Amino acid sequence: MKTCKLGLLLIGILLINQSIAQEIIKLPEPNKTGGKPLMQALNDRQSSRDFIEKDLSPQQISDLLWAAYGINRTEAGKHTIPTSRNIQDMEVYITTKDGAFLYLPKEQAIQKIVSSDIREKTGKQDFVKVAAVNLIYVSDFSKAGNGTDEIKTMTAATHCGFIGQNVYLYCASEGLISVFRAYFDNTEVSKALNLPENKHVIYCQTVGYSK
Ligand SMILES: Cc1cc2nc3c(=O)[nH]c(=O)nc-3n(C[C@H](O)[C@H](O)[C@H](O)COP(=O)(O)O)c2cc1C
Repeated sequence: MKTCKLGLLLIGILLINQSIAQEIIKLPEPNKTGGKPLMQALNDRQSSRDFIEKDLSPQQISDLLWAAYGINRTEAGKHTIPTSRNIQDMEVYITTKDGAFLYLPKEQAIQKIVSSDIREKTGKQDFVKVAAVNLIYVSDFSKAGNGTDEIKTMTAATHCGFIGQNVYLYCASEGLISVFRAYFDNTEVSKALNLPENKHVIYCQTVGYSK
């Protein structure tokens, strides 16, 4: 009888986990007009770290993710960043106080991966647990062909550079602050996101409001 109850409990937990894992949140349509003129945004781009605890709106999250790695040519399924041989290996995860989510560019949606606040696991600097958003840039090496891991890492790091600059420019345009980051524990971040072996965390980037 005891074993039977335990079995039911385990099935219940599994079902709850599955429904959390499948929760998909549609984002508002990204706002592709307006913002600061490009030259002004370039002039304002900088790294800042004096974050305050203030959430981004759903519209800002949608615009931020679209700038980072959205689809800008629907028919061709191509992104706001270039990728080597169009391998499209990148995944962008977003962590907020509400959990961790995978960005789904085709759907302009986010999928809940973790339902607890894991912001502090995304870096070794104090501001990561205060800022509204930490983005985690992951490369799926299984999409990157037959090269060595060294070549795949170099290619993925280049892709991250494009994403990071798009995010910096969006933040400069929107009056948000940001910092691109290498100072994190790779194993801890991979574990927190339950990443499989083929998916590699390359860089992170923090985004939010300034003091
Ligand atoms: C590859 C890379 C890794 C970085 N890692 C960190 C980091 O872990 N923590 C941090 O506070 N800043 C980090 N930065 C931000 C740099 O410190 C910053 O870009 C530099 O000081 C120049 O300042 P600016 O971005 O305002 O021009 C990183 C930047 C790059 C390009």
